[in-house]
Amino acid sequence: MSIAIITESASEEMREVRVGIIGCGGIANGKHMPSLKKLPNVKMVAFCDIIPERAQKAKEEYGTPDAEVYTDYRDLVARDDIEVVHVLTPNCAHAELSIAALDSGKHVMCEKPMAASYKEAQAMVEAAKRSGKFLTVGYQTRSTMTHQYVRHMVEKGELGEIYYVKAPSIRRRGAPLWGVFLDKEKQGGGPMIDIGTHSIDAALSLINNYEVESVSGSVYRKLADTAMNSNEWGIWDPKDFQVEDSAMGWIKFKNGATMIVEASWVLNYTGEANMTLCGTKGGVEFRGDTVRINGEKDGSLFITDVKPNSTARDLFHGQNLTAEEYEAKQWIYSVVNNVPPLTKPEQACVVSRVIEAIYESAKTGKPVYFD
Ligand SMILES: NC(=O)c1ccc[n+]([C@@H]2O[C@H](COP(=O)([O-])OP(=O)(O)OC[C@H]3O[C@@H](n4cnc5c(N)ncnc54)[C@H](O)[C@@H]3O)[C@@H](O)[C@H]2O)c1
Repeated sequence: MSIAIITESASEEMREVRVGIIGCGGIANGKHMPSLKKLPNVKMVAFCDIIPERAQKAKEEYGTPDAEVYTDYRDLVARDDIEVVHVLTPNCAHAELSIAALDSGKHVMCEKPMAASYKEAQAMVEAAKRSGKFLTVGYQTRSTMTHQYVRHMVEKGELGEIYYVKAPSIRRRGAPLWGVFLDKEKQGGGPMIDIGTHSIDAALSLINNYEVESVSGSVYRKLADTAMNSNEWGIWDPKDFQVEDSAMGWIKFKNGATMIVEASWVLNYTGEANMTLCGTKGGVEFRGDTVRINGEKDGSLFITDVKPNSTARDLFHGQNLTAEEYEAKQWIYSVVNNVPPLTKPEQACVVSRVIEAIYESAKTGKPVYFD
């Protein structure tokens, strides 16, 4: 699967794009609506939430004066003046809403993870193919300068053959207590599907390897009954904590490479948790906004720290966009210019398959083989 690179020379002229927002909660207010609002050609003309006050508030803050509010997503996707729909609800609704929007002829940006299950993610890929519309998933890590810098290094072969990847998402005490993140049925799992999904997507897209051979996983619920008092986002009730508090996965690729993924909201861990790629010509470690490159030259080991700027990205050089702003701008650019979005649905679907395999393997105690 190849990752399309869009060159900076492409025109930035953008025609008007009318957008509908479904789900006006945390991520809508924290990421999508503020980023879309900064794009002069985007008009947010419809807002839907099952809690009507949230849709109303979103309309007042981000909408056009004539924007409509809805509590039923079907009323929003039925409108034929809307070109793009953002699906920003809990995971359990991603597939139903995205498929309905695609089938109504809309391009869809769905929040991560693609879906609560692999089966639902597959149905979304099918709907995108059937509709001929774009479907993408909100993995904003791909829009950071560091990620794009390293992706380009890998594409140029500067790291050689990458055969070991460490992909951690570890919080010492960081269980999200807004929304429904502790609800297994609505989310499909805990930290692995919530934040591990970012690490898996980032790693697979960096090495551009979606050919998974097998997945083994371990899932723990060890601190959910005791560690609530020091949680960053408030105290939880253990009986509400229906998901794992930590999960680890061991992924083997068909070319022999290995990836370890670690995901936790609550872990007695204070070490540095950095995404790391190790190749035959060099290695890379992500450290905040810096990339640490290591290797050997003329018999000497070296370490170089690089702080990439906007020229590391595929597009919009010279613009100091946050990852969230870049993601929104690149997405709207894709729609206007009819070029594939940064995150392809087939790629996000493999991420969902890996997550499900980690949970499945932890349950059975056996590896899950993909073919
Ligand atoms: N990209 C990221 O880093 C990131 C960060 C946080 C959350 N997320 C993802 O965003 C999604 C939402 O998370 P959140 O933190 O915004 O949760 P949230 O609970 O704050 O917001 C979700 C909103 O969706 C509404 N909603 C639920 N079902 C609906 C339906 N059928 N139709 C219309 N509205 C509906 C809820 O009332 C709520 O207002 C999740 O899938 C989560 O994984 C992504």
